[in-house]
Amino acid sequence: MKSLRATRLGAVSAISLIMAAPPAHAQGARPWLDPRLSPDERAALAEQAMTLDEKIAMLHGPMALPFPDPPPKEAIGGAGYIPGVPRLGIPALQETDASLGVTNPMNIRPDDGGTALPSGLAIAASFDADVARDGGAMVGREAFSKGFNVLLAGGANLAREPRNGRNFEYLGEDPLLAGTLGGAAIAGAQSSGVISTAKHFALNDQESARHGVDAQIDEAALRESDLLAFQLAIEIGKPGSIMCAYNKVNGDYACGSDFLLNRVLKGDWGYRGWVMSDWGATYGADFALKGLDQQSGQQLDKSVWFGDPLKQAVRSGQIPEARISDMVRRILRSMFAVGIVDRPPVKQAIDYTAHADVARRAAAEGVVLLKNRANLLPMAAGAKRIAVIGGGADAGVLSGGGSSSVTPPAGQGDPPRFVPVGGEGQMAPWWREVYHPSSPLKAIRALNKDAEVTFDTGRYASAAAAAAAKADVAIVFVTQWMTEGLDAADLTLPNGQDALVQAVIAANPNTIVVLETGGPIQMPWLDGAGAVVQAWYPGAKGGDAIADVLFGRVNPSGRLPMTFPQSVEQLPRPALIGFGGSERAAVAAPHPEGADVGYRWFAARGLKPLFPFGHGLSYTDFRYSDLTVAGGLTLTVSFTVENIGKTTGADVPQVYLATAAGEPAVRLIGFQKVRLAPGQRRTVTLKADPRLLARYDTQAGGWRLKGGRYQVRLAKDSASPGMTAGASVQAQLLKDRP
Ligand code: BGC
Repeated sequence: MKSLRATRLGAVSAISLIMAAPPAHAQGARPWLDPRLSPDERAALAEQAMTLDEKIAMLHGPMALPFPDPPPKEAIGGAGYIPGVPRLGIPALQETDASLGVTNPMNIRPDDGGTALPSGLAIAASFDADVARDGGAMVGREAFSKGFNVLLAGGANLAREPRNGRNFEYLGEDPLLAGTLGGAAIAGAQSSGVISTAKHFALNDQESARHGVDAQIDEAALRESDLLAFQLAIEIGKPGSIMCAYNKVNGDYACGSDFLLNRVLKGDWGYRGWVMSDWGATYGADFALKGLDQQSGQQLDKSVWFGDPLKQAVRSGQIPEARISDMVRRILRSMFAVGIVDRPPVKQAIDYTAHADVARRAAAEGVVLLKNRANLLPMAAGAKRIAVIGGGADAGVLSGGGSSSVTPPAGQGDPPRFVPVGGEGQMAPWWREVYHPSSPLKAIRALNKDAEVTFDTGRYASAAAAAAAKADVAIVFVTQWMTEGLDAADLTLPNGQDALVQAVIAANPNTIVVLETGGPIQMPWLDGAGAVVQAWYPGAKGGDAIADVLFGRVNPSGRLPMTFPQSVEQLPRPALIGFGGSERAAVAAPHPEGADVGYRWFAARGLKPLFPFGHGLSYTDFRYSDLTVAGGLTLTVSFTVENIGKTTGADVPQVYLATAAGEPAVRLIGFQKVRLAPGQRRTVTLKADPRLLARYDTQAGGWRLKGGRYQVRLAKDSASPGMTAGASVQAQLLKDRP
């Protein structure tokens, strides 16, 4: 315990600020229940009324599953449970995983399903904060109606590694995109009256060796990339809690990182909520001094560190009691701020039909049309013979695995298809592909009543090719199941599906390939494909959304939130560190790309990707004009977008920084989804967050903008030349908390 005394007490300094005496009008039996007081005042009053044992009880809790013991009887059942203090009117925290929908692990609540949003990458591909907000609000409503008051959601890790098994839970590779949409999703969730986390703080960018990997990165680069994504998400979404990550960052476990938690999050950013650990990420009571406020999923750790060991550390003076007060107040503050004390969740019926519509809209907005030879798409409703092949398209659409996996609600149409994945290891028994019962085949048939629509499973390439040869058009569905706990070995499609696609293309050049993948893949058959549609994991109504795009009921407007590399050789780490080894292997993962994640790495190295970040086609065309840039303290960029085609559609003009004070600097600094009817035009004005123009200066502790001329590029994606213009920006140093 010697190390406890030696640790900085950065977080404790905030305590004096919130120790203020309660105002006179708040006095009463339970003054903290007076909603006229501020969340800080209420938290302070409630905390002062608690015994040490009550406080300690609020700082740790189990996974609310029969694992190995039955969960507390008050727990609804799901990811986690933290007891409340009934004598003081403080409710328990009922926590559910909810990255993409309310989950039901181990079917702990018998047959209680949830509405699945499309994957995070699909949401990100919408480039539309409203889509993220609506999705968050829907999941929040559903959780509230099931009695939960905390969502484990808000994945804001940058997708640095295309093989990462959890990319589908995140929002792509760019800090502005991930931060903006992540913040909107959190704000949406909390608008439904439940607390949301942002997770997994920070640099949780691979699943291989996820409990042992040490992500090594330069501080300034970290601040400009992954931390900036979280910073933006926190500013926009104001999450009640932050979940720290499994991995280490520069030598320290993320949940025991004084730098990440005390210095950056609570210090520089002034974060007022609480930090909960990921499940099984707490390694000692001293993590309390490093900034961790609550131990989650305690049965997965070696000890209930934040139970008796923490209490003993307080008793012996190794941890100041003031720190315990701070931890408790942070939790209470968020409970009051979000409203879960004043307006507790009410169990009620859920309108799954309305919720499925939210998921369907999100899926449609996130579909990315990657290739469209000679306008093969949209398909005319008049095609006579359509061969649908592979991907389980007869049953539904694939979803990702792990703690975010949503079980579809019972009694809402066809049952889902479950396909066990098999394999060895602790998690293998849980691995199964879940197909949400929104069958693309059925949706295609429904839109083509007079056509002959056949289906082939794709198990034998020769049979699929024979079916394709007989059709006017072949639509081949391919899948890549990804899961928490397991990275993809490489970027090929698994189970021989590349050979299937090749065979179908050889039999019929009018082949449309629909991808349901957890992230980027290689496409050795790309040249021969007629069209390629990236549908990601499209969620509860994914099959309908795909058919809507294929047949032109929806004009695709998704854009890639990740670079699609040509091969792993183009990546900063061609070999995945720790892949295939123990999840606890202590391996070092240098991050030579620093802040140059994804498209920035490709630009810096002069590499040509398979498809660039930001790419996506439409059934109409857009033209940009009148680009002007005003300078000063930041850049304000204006331009006009016009729909010069024949169909209504949405475009995503993207503004990239090209040079900053004479130095090359490729960064997305603004984007906007613009919906336009044919012939319609709109002027868009985007003001760049100055942090996106700056470099983080660790000496000075702030964002340094060099004075000089800055060039921007207005383009359709990160790699195309677009139009350029520039303006002068003043030299400045910006503090996170001025
Ligand atoms: C995951 C978290 C999740 C938690 C609770 C962990 O394994 O990393 O994202 O919220 O489990 O299920």
